[in-house]
Amino acid sequence: MTDSIQFSPDFTWGVATSAFQIEGASTADGKGPSIWDTFCRNPANIKDASNGDVACDHYHRYREDVGIMAGLGVDAYRFSMAWARVQPTGKGAWNEKGFDFYSRLLDALEEKGIAAHLTLYHWDLPQGLQDEGGWLSRDTAYRFADYAREVARRFGNRLASIATHNEPWCTANLGYGNAQFAPGVTDAKQAVQVSHHLLLSHGLAMQAMRAENPKAALGIVLNQWTSDPATDSAADRALAELEWARSVQWFMDPIFKGRYPELALRAHGANAPTVFDGDFDIIRQPLDFLGVNYYFRHYASAETPPRTAPAALGVTDMGWEIYPQGLTELLVKLNGEYTLPPIYITENGMAAPDSVEQGQVTDTIRIRYVQQHLAALQAAINQGVDVRGYFLWSLMDNFEWNSGYAKRFGIVYVDYATQQRIPKASALWYRDFVAAQHLQR
Ligand code: NOJ
Repeated sequence: MTDSIQFSPDFTWGVATSAFQIEGASTADGKGPSIWDTFCRNPANIKDASNGDVACDHYHRYREDVGIMAGLGVDAYRFSMAWARVQPTGKGAWNEKGFDFYSRLLDALEEKGIAAHLTLYHWDLPQGLQDEGGWLSRDTAYRFADYAREVARRFGNRLASIATHNEPWCTANLGYGNAQFAPGVTDAKQAVQVSHHLLLSHGLAMQAMRAENPKAALGIVLNQWTSDPATDSAADRALAELEWARSVQWFMDPIFKGRYPELALRAHGANAPTVFDGDFDIIRQPLDFLGVNYYFRHYASAETPPRTAPAALGVTDMGWEIYPQGLTELLVKLNGEYTLPPIYITENGMAAPDSVEQGQVTDTIRIRYVQQHLAALQAAINQGVDVRGYFLWSLMDNFEWNSGYAKRFGIVYVDYATQQRIPKASALWYRDFVAAQHLQR
């Protein structure tokens, strides 16, 4: 099905991971604890009662992992830095050994000609900052900017791009709304205030990094979905519109328009965030790119119990509806509502119940998923959306947050008992697909 798909010759093909999900080595070389280390200490928080202490042991096996990427022939690797590795408590002295690790990783990537796309914050706030209020405290935004400036100073010239945040919607709503994620708070008002501080920290970090390294390509990664009314009823349509405002516009409007969306503000009512004069001027920094993570659409039903999505193409192991056309619709809609910088699909992929049979993992379903989403991406590009790259989530199976290791998103299988990596059928397919795209170069 993707045989007929030709992306532009300079399109970036990549794979993605994040620090806490793969690195392990949770106390090595002076690393401080993060809120996810703390969250995992209560086994009830994680479905398989696991933690990130070892994960994929990438901290020690990064050379092998970069070798696997080189074997896949990808152009680029998206990963994140563990803030508590390079600044153990989130403020004060830098931990040189932590920076050394990322420098070694960059050496290995450079050696293989793989472009490095860094995310500064993929959810693992240093516990030291949490102890002082975490993202509920405005001060954390300033600490984040200090960290961002230092990373841009040290590594700016070695990175193809730097994203401030990964999916701030999750930090706010899962971390502070329903306690599925660290730090495990359930307080709707706090969740909204946290989202404002995350946006503020994004703006401050953008300013700090621009000043430090005017040439670095800077942006943010947002998880986004379209929102479809389950029926044509007025109630369902209103709910769908509200969901778009509360999730997508809530983060996009401040960044691209310098304000919060009215509809969502009204819905938040007394939970609306405290915003200081000038905050929107800080948040509204020009971006060099927008990262979009796409997994599913939102299905809005006002009925009790709510109608569930038809899932004509099935659901993933996470229970998420497979809905590739939502990617086309999302990108086209965003392009209509905003004046966008170039877009990268910074994550897309699926969890599947993979197992090793005779040394092989035949994840045909994942190959189909990726093919369908690439076709959907191509359709968006044909409709005028400027998309420059695609990063498959994930390079390898890893710690899927509150689902632990039970959900496998990798195109490379990880046997956690031995740390053996086994490329799945999807990895071999992706390798061949990327090679075919490269033939045009
Ligand atoms: C988005 C997150 O950024 C990533 O950490 C997570 O593993 C995937 N979604 C899959 O849930």
